[in-house]
Amino acid sequence: MRMVDLIEKKRDGGTLSEKEIQYIVNEYTENRIPDYQMSALLMAIFYEDMTDEEITALTLAMANSGEVIDLSSIDGIKVDKHSTGGVGDTTTLILAPLVASVGVPVAKMSGRGLGYTGGTLDKLESIPGFQIELSEENFIKLVNESQVAVIGQTGNLAPADKKLYALRDVTATVNSIPLIASSIMSKKIAAGADAIVLDVTTGDGAFMKNLEDARRLAHTMVRIGKLANRQTMAVISDMSQPLGEAIGNSLEVVEAIETLQGKGPEDLVEMCYALGSQMVVLAKKAETLEEARQLLKEALDSGAALEKFKEMIRNQGGDASIVDEPNRLLTAKYEQALPAKQSGVMTKLVANELGIAAMMLGAGRRTKEDAIDHAVGLKLHKKVGEAIQEGDALLTIYSNTEDIEEVKALLYQYIEIGETGEEPPLIHEIITE
Ligand code: URA
Ligand code: CA
Repeated sequence: MRMVDLIEKKRDGGTLSEKEIQYIVNEYTENRIPDYQMSALLMAIFYEDMTDEEITALTLAMANSGEVIDLSSIDGIKVDKHSTGGVGDTTTLILAPLVASVGVPVAKMSGRGLGYTGGTLDKLESIPGFQIELSEENFIKLVNESQVAVIGQTGNLAPADKKLYALRDVTATVNSIPLIASSIMSKKIAAGADAIVLDVTTGDGAFMKNLEDARRLAHTMVRIGKLANRQTMAVISDMSQPLGEAIGNSLEVVEAIETLQGKGPEDLVEMCYALGSQMVVLAKKAETLEEARQLLKEALDSGAALEKFKEMIRNQGGDASIVDEPNRLLTAKYEQALPAKQSGVMTKLVANELGIAAMMLGAGRRTKEDAIDHAVGLKLHKKVGEAIQEGDALLTIYSNTEDIEEVKALLYQYIEIGETGEEPPLIHEIITE
């Protein structure tokens, strides 16, 4: 097989066979195909697209390019959840203990943030003592004993994806539906999931800026999940404004605790029920989404989910007493309100730029090497569609420097107050096939 012939085939709109795709992924991972040829193929895929069979072959080849985690010694159906990215997305912190408390085994490997906001690992590390590095043996033991553990992704998971993503990043080929779908699904499959729930975000703060693209990505991932023998469902959720009220690592842990105490913001709670009920159905702990939602609601109302979160923190070496006193996590030196300059209705709260503002405070990374300040971030007091009086606090800025004029200016630029505005739908669609 020659790479140049395969590039030509894709360039001319042909379909690559499973063997050809395996060859490309193996040879590229082993550094036997140079970046310039791979770049040409990526661009051809960008323009010519791929069939479901090609995407499935690409997904499996990338999943098998490194370590594949074997979770078969854990009883039950292991369901993983993945979000295609958002701002202030606290759902994993809530869902892991919530679904575990109704008997769904959660063996979750999470990443740090790809973009400029902290990832689940960064959030968990704002809990004093919490260990995100466990041996695979210990990880499996915890899930068997306690139904839940959340750890960092091991270094050798889907190395082909890691190498390809870096190349896509510098060749303007990230934004391709077959490439995004295979990238995400390869990591989920390598992490050992039997079933997968996808949160495909759409809007300013997401990869997919419009609903039509989000729908295509969601359908593609659900189809290839099935072709790869992993039951898969998806929710298309709105990311035009941030989810919940907290953006920033400690602030989001506090928000997760409050949600598990039954005091969470309405949108975040609803998102957790929507995604959580899919997880419960895929794990076969309920027959219908409605029945699953009822189980989750009972676990939240009874305090079982909150207790499970404490157990998870304790199991992973963290200080579980913060669950009873979450305000101990709020250690930023300064708290300043951002007052509304006029009365009206909030019409825009642009997720992307709110994420950037939180990063500027230190809640996220500008470069991969940056350290994170867990204490800082934003707490929203008003969301799109809410009435506002001049002088109302739109949000509170938690910072460790007094000089935040630049952040305030950015926030004012991307928060719009107008005459009429409607709350956007939280969930656009639920895709089960
Ligand atoms: N997230 C991923 O993991 N891969 C992509 O290609 C895009 C988003
Ligand atoms: Ca949030």
